[in-house]
Amino acid sequence: MTKKLEIYKCRVCSNVIEVVHEGEGTLVCCKEDMELLKENIPEPENPHYAYVEELDDMLKKVTLKHVMTHEHHIEYVEVISNDGKFLKRKYFEETEPLEFLFRCECKEGFYVRLYCNLDNVWITRAK
Ligand SMILES: [Fe+2]
Repeated sequence: MTKKLEIYKCRVCSNVIEVVHEGEGTLVCCKEDMELLKENIPEPENPHYAYVEELDDMLKKVTLKHVMTHEHHIEYVEVISNDGKFLKRKYFEETEPLEFLFRCECKEGFYVRLYCNLDNVWITRAK
């Protein structure tokens, strides 16, 4: 059984999938059950920590200090409202600065979730 927004990875081929609609079944890739990735919570000194700036009521900016090399990089960053109704995702090129501007009223609060190619999934609560 899956839950909306869960992220699963194939241990064999590294396929990564995100659940957009939950179901009773088990996710399988390369003839094996896919691994449900744990959401790690970084301390501010950890490179997977997301800094959030509120530029105004709607406009917000996420910044990260993670390295961006071919071997180790952030593949994408998501902003997700706490009620799970709003999600924005930005994919990053290896040479791109780790900045993400987005508009969200998100009165119920939101969190930032990212996927690192080596260290998997990390979340930072914004408020
Ligand atoms: Fe990392």
